[in-house]
Amino acid sequence: MLITFEGIDGSGKSTQIQILKDKLEALSIEVSVFREPGGTDLSEMVRGMLLNPEIEIDSVTELLLFSSARSQLVAEKVIPRLKENQVVILDRFYDSTVAYQGYGRESVPIQDIKEINHIAAHGLIPDITFYIRLSQQESARRTLHLQKDRMERAGDSFFNRVIEGFEALAESESRIYPMDGTLTSEQLHDQIWGVLEPVLPGT
Ligand code: TYD
Repeated sequence: MLITFEGIDGSGKSTQIQILKDKLEALSIEVSVFREPGGTDLSEMVRGMLLNPEIEIDSVTELLLFSSARSQLVAEKVIPRLKENQVVILDRFYDSTVAYQGYGRESVPIQDIKEINHIAAHGLIPDITFYIRLSQQESARRTLHLQKDRMERAGDSFFNRVIEGFEALAESESRIYPMDGTLTSEQLHDQIWGVLEPVLPGT
């Protein structure tokens, strides 16, 4: 089973993923977690390029770099684990590419991004996607004290377009569950668990 988490910076994805991973392991369910971009040697190298504030990257090149990091992760790590019936949790997946490179950067038309996503994901589609909703203002407030990587240096209007992208995806894809990012992490976890528990393998 493939579960993905999406949302803008500061939405609390990583905290939710950690809580969920611990819970699944406590139930003796085998689970692997990977972050995007990253998760393999090659993909982590590509991540280093993508997030380095000293490198200027053309928006189409950026799209293809995120996609190449994804392809390697899916081929090398995700598909083999899904074949072993593990639960795989991804901290971001191709919905981020629609939101950031499609709506945010406006690199190429959304339909083209979706085709590239299909190729880079080797045809995989998440079973469930949790989109943790947060306003641009709340995200900015929560991440104020953090050092900004290359993506995070984009302006407010960029992040508002990214949010618009996630919202459009959530409207059109029934696998995407929008969650309220202003809840406490316990409340958020309870809601996520409420969605997942009935559909988990072997429970
Ligand atoms: P990361 O530090 O992992 O951010 P977060 O902790 O918020 O997930 O950095 C990943 C950055 O890359 C983040 O700003 C979102 C961006 N990104 C894209 O622009 N496109 C993509 O396809 C993916 C996977 C991430």
